[in-house]
Amino acid sequence: MKILVLNGPNLNLLGEREPEIYGLLTLEQINAELAKRAERTASAVQPTDHAGVAIQLDFFQSNHEGMLVDKLHEVRGSHDAVIFNPAAYTHYSYALRDAITAIAIPVIEVHLSNPDQREDFRKVNVVRDVCAAHFQGRGLQSYIEAFDYVIRLRDA
Ligand code: DQA
Repeated sequence: MKILVLNGPNLNLLGEREPEIYGLLTLEQINAELAKRAERTASAVQPTDHAGVAIQLDFFQSNHEGMLVDKLHEVRGSHDAVIFNPAAYTHYSYALRDAITAIAIPVIEVHLSNPDQREDFRKVNVVRDVCAAHFQGRGLQSYIEAFDYVIRLRDA
């Protein structure tokens, strides 16, 4: 099973960017925690389960909308799911919304903070209804919950 963990603009600055909102973990640390979770999940699978024992996580971050669109297109034939924090693009990118609907794999929306409880412009969300699920407001845990959701989808 292959999962892409995709992060949008300014998330490369996690750890130093508004830590009171986004916490102190860097994106590398978040990705490392997800990789650990994937390893533990894969090794917890019984040897009799031949399907999908291996879980491959790929990571990509970009500050550029088009690069994120390209990445979503790129994984459409190769990956089973995308865990996606579109960051500020969440609130206005119809291009990313269209890319999510254009690919036939589930995209799970993630946010470290809870945008619904912040400034009004963050309450506008143009991707939520085209994503399979969303997890927000729990920092690293939002990503972990999204990962666990993908594993439940696989096992369903
Ligand atoms: C964010 C929330 C967005 O509103 C913001 O623009 C971000 C990060 C989050 O993870 O909480 O860059 O997606």
